[in-house]
Amino acid sequence: MKSVLRIFAILGLASSLAHAAPDGAQLFANNCAACHQLDQMVVGPSLAEIRGIYQGKPDDFVKWCVAPQRKRQGAIEMPSMVHVGDEGLRAIYAHVMKVAEGVTVKKQQQGDPFAASREMTKRPQVQRIFMPDSGPASIAVAVDAQHSLCWDAGACRLRYMWTGGFIDGYPYWKGNGSSLATLVGQVRYTEAESPFGADKKVKFRGYTMKQDRPTFHYQVGEMRVSESFSAAADGKGIVRKISLDPTPASDLVLHFPAPQNGTVKVESGQWREGKLTVRPEQASSIVLHYSFP
Ligand code: HEC
Repeated sequence: MKSVLRIFAILGLASSLAHAAPDGAQLFANNCAACHQLDQMVVGPSLAEIRGIYQGKPDDFVKWCVAPQRKRQGAIEMPSMVHVGDEGLRAIYAHVMKVAEGVTVKKQQQGDPFAASREMTKRPQVQRIFMPDSGPASIAVAVDAQHSLCWDAGACRLRYMWTGGFIDGYPYWKGNGSSLATLVGQVRYTEAESPFGADKKVKFRGYTMKQDRPTFHYQVGEMRVSESFSAAADGKGIVRKISLDPTPASDLVLHFPAPQNGTVKVESGQWREGKLTVRPEQASSIVLHYSFP
C-alpha cells in the first residue's frame, strides 16, 4: 500500500511539472526578442506598439502569431510561431502586456534594416530567416555576391560561412514558417560554439547597419561585444571584426577553429590550433581575415 501511494505521489509530481505554467519571459527571449524590442521598431514592431493593438485581445494575438499577415510596408514577413504552442503564446502575451505597460514608442531611427538594404540593392543582403543548422532567430548575411554567413541571434554567435551565393528563400516566402532556407553554394567554415566558450551567459542587443552590412551587438557576461562582417578587399573572403568593451583585465583566449576549406589570418594576437590569445589592449579590435578558395 505504501509503495502504491508513493507511485501516485510521483505521478502527481510529474504531471504537475508537465503542466507548470510556461515562462513567458523566457519564451519571448528565445522566440521573439531577436525581432521585437521594447520601445522601438527593429525588424518587427515594438512591444509598446503591440500592446496598443492587442491589449485585452489575447486570442487575436495568438491568431497573428500562428498565421502572421503582411501588414507594414517595408517590413519582412514574420515567420509563423506555431511551434511555440497556444499555451506558450498566451504566456508570451501576458509577458508583453506587462513589460510594455506605460512604455511609449520611440521614433524609428534607421528604419527597418532589411527594407533599407532591399531598396539599395536588388538582392537582399540581410535576411531574417529559418536557416539550416542554426537557431530559430537566424540572420543570413551576404557580404558580397560570393560570400555569405549565418548568424544566430538567439545563441549570439556565428554559425557558418559559405561561398558561391546567398540563399534560396523561396520555400520560406511561400509562407510556411517551418520551412528552411536553402543555402546556395558550399559551407567553408563552421563554428561549433561561441568563441567565448559554450558556458557563458549571452544576451542579444540588436544589430545596426552600416554600408548595408550589419554589426551584431551582444553581451557576454559583463562585456559588450560588437561583431561585424565585410567583404575582403581582394574579393576572396570575409573580414570579421570583434570588439570588446570593456577590454578584459588579462589575456583572453578565444576559440576560432580553422576553416574546413580556406585559411584564416589574424591581425593581432596569437592564433594557434583553434585558440586565439589576445592581450587586453588588443581586445578592442580583433580582426580575422578569412580567405576561401
Ligand atoms: C524573424 C523576425 C520575427 C520574429 C522572430 C518574430 N516576429 Fe513578430 N513581427 C515581425 C515582423 C517583421 C512584423 C511586422 C509584419 C508586418 O507588419 O507586415 C511582426 C509583427 C508582430 C506583431 C504585430 C501584429 C499586428 O497586428 O500588427 C505581433 C503581435 C508579433 N509580431 C508577435 C510576435 C511574437 C509573440 C513573436 C515570438 C513568439 C514574434 N512576433 C517573433 C518579425 C518577427
